[in-house]
Amino acid sequence: MSRDINDNAASTPIMSVGALSRRSGISVSAIHFYEREGLIRSTRNAANHRRYSRASLRVLAIIKAGQRAGLPLSEIRTALTPALTGKPLNREEWQRISESWRDDLTRRIRVLEQVRDQLAGCIRCGCLSHELCVLFNPADRAAAEGPGAQGLEPVPVDDMPREG
Ligand code: FES
Repeated sequence: MSRDINDNAASTPIMSVGALSRRSGISVSAIHFYEREGLIRSTRNAANHRRYSRASLRVLAIIKAGQRAGLPLSEIRTALTPALTGKPLNREEWQRISESWRDDLTRRIRVLEQVRDQLAGCIRCGCLSHELCVLFNPADRAAAEGPGAQGLEPVPVDDMPREG
């Protein structure tokens, strides 16, 4: 079979939403949601029922992968733009999508690592200060002096409340 014949077979709308749900493992309501959000398309048959192509299975798999990676739907939609013509995504298109997602994930991981490291200074601090806390105040110059609220005066031992 030539590539064109495969593409035509894959893009022919044949599946009901129930069949697509069973084969993809994605609920009917989620498929309808993705369709409303413009991530997947169907056509109507003579009885006005939605029909989906086999290529929709790959699109749904990519949506799931993108969601597992924590990507917003808007970004997944952008990546899937070539698939919205009804043409099945090919290997090169998936490589392009996965590369762009890898770069985005790398950037997100860096941001999360930075937040995690900044959070270390807040542990057991609890000042919630917009002036002193690096999480509330990312441009905090006092953060260079060490973790925690650097601007707070230490409480002298004699002033600490006594137990009992
Ligand atoms: S809560 Fe973040 S430094 Fe105090």
